[in-house]
Amino acid sequence: MNKSIWKANEKEKYPEKINNDNNFKEKVDICIIGAGITGITCAYELSELGYSINIIEKNEVCSGTTGNTTGKITSQHNAFYDYLINSFDENMAKKYLEANEKAIRKIEERIQKENIDCDFEKLTSYIYTDKNEEIEILEKEYKALNKLGFKSEYVRELDIPFKIEGAIGFKNQAQFNVVKYIKGLLKKIEENNVKIYTHTKATDIEKNGKEYIVKTEKGNIDASIVIIASHYPFLKLQGLYSAKMYQSMSYLIAIETKKELPKGMYISISNPNISIRTAKYEGKEILLVGGGDHKTGKPTTYEESYGRLEEFAKKYYPDAKILKKWNAEDCVSLDKLPYIGQASNFLPNVYVATGYKKWGMTLSNVATGIIVDSIKGKENHYADIFSSLRMKPVKNHEEMKNMIIDSSKGLFINKIKEAEILENELENDCGKIIEIENHKVGIYKNENGKVFAVNPICTHLGCLLTWNQIDKTWDCPCHGSRFRYDGKNICDPAYEDLEILEIEE
Ligand code: FES
Repeated sequence: MNKSIWKANEKEKYPEKINNDNNFKEKVDICIIGAGITGITCAYELSELGYSINIIEKNEVCSGTTGNTTGKITSQHNAFYDYLINSFDENMAKKYLEANEKAIRKIEERIQKENIDCDFEKLTSYIYTDKNEEIEILEKEYKALNKLGFKSEYVRELDIPFKIEGAIGFKNQAQFNVVKYIKGLLKKIEENNVKIYTHTKATDIEKNGKEYIVKTEKGNIDASIVIIASHYPFLKLQGLYSAKMYQSMSYLIAIETKKELPKGMYISISNPNISIRTAKYEGKEILLVGGGDHKTGKPTTYEESYGRLEEFAKKYYPDAKILKKWNAEDCVSLDKLPYIGQASNFLPNVYVATGYKKWGMTLSNVATGIIVDSIKGKENHYADIFSSLRMKPVKNHEEMKNMIIDSSKGLFINKIKEAEILENELENDCGKIIEIENHKVGIYKNENGKVFAVNPICTHLGCLLTWNQIDKTWDCPCHGSRFRYDGKNICDPAYEDLEILEIEE
């Protein structure tokens, strides 16, 4: 997969540190699983309080959603407040807004305190529509914000190169380079003796009296407290996250243009949407254009993903030179609220933070506040609305249906004949699922004609995978796990690789 502009020039600083001898053992107060913005921010805050901490990360620091974000720091999560008032109530919507506003200030405070150079810029964030039929949605959102007593501005013009019908602006929002920000926090974390083990997969959490054993492929870590900040909780059953969350993929391109760039952050309320912001990259001021969301695992063409963004860029910035393109995966809960707090009723002192629905810059900070307060034994004003133990009726039946379709029982086959593959016409650099003797087989033929065959059954809970021709990956339509063409697991919640099928001559 392609690297984002944030990660493009970064070298991995934390090589694999746990020896592969299976005898590794370490004891800490807190073990954090996942080195994205949530894990690192929790480590930063908690290590300042004197806890001994280690972080285990299955890939590299910021290699997941954090390193592929748009990096917008805002409480404007598209047209969301009318939804919150209607689906819950005013009080709840107010708390959500307040928690996210405070998160912006908290990030700014940390940047100042640690003197972090991360291209942090305060801007106005806008949701807009260029379609007359969507004005009603915008007006309802504006009314909802007024009801909450939040001062937003309703405008009919923006400094973007096309006509809009209307827009709502939130002042004092921000954007930054998230990887530079994380690097600033890491400096302090290291001073506080937090250890970071990358390329180390957590495979299980076992209860040991009042403590926990975090099992990894390379050894165990004993901890009194565990924080699962691994994007999608890897626990298969506890908390039943796989029954209440799915993953959504979106795309971003970075372009260079001589045309004047806009001065704010923008996102359309249409579906699929378009998200715009400026950024600094290799000494230049550039533009990021994002969008094209779809449920992970839904077969998508290049035209529907990057192609749509490129078309937009070329239409409004005819001289646009595309510098980079990449995609991001986000967890979305069925009620659209994150799950933050105790991971399960059966696991006291195990915390989870997930389901940020593409707004992880502020929500990861809301999560940090809730988790840190809980560890300190302090009440948190916002904890109840995000509680990971909430039991609300699932309103979103459409999504529920999406999650259970495409499931398939495990099919066992471990060898296939080359001739059987050759019978199925497949061009070089393409993949698909074929049937051999009633068994499903996932095959990919690389540019040189070499074939890779896998059992296309997701190692999380057994859904049938789909081929993603854009990234050359096997993607799961159930909860969004992803695997490379050769079966290597690259995205949660699955953590085991796909079974590789031997190809006999
Ligand atoms: Fe859950 Fe694939 S991610 S079954």
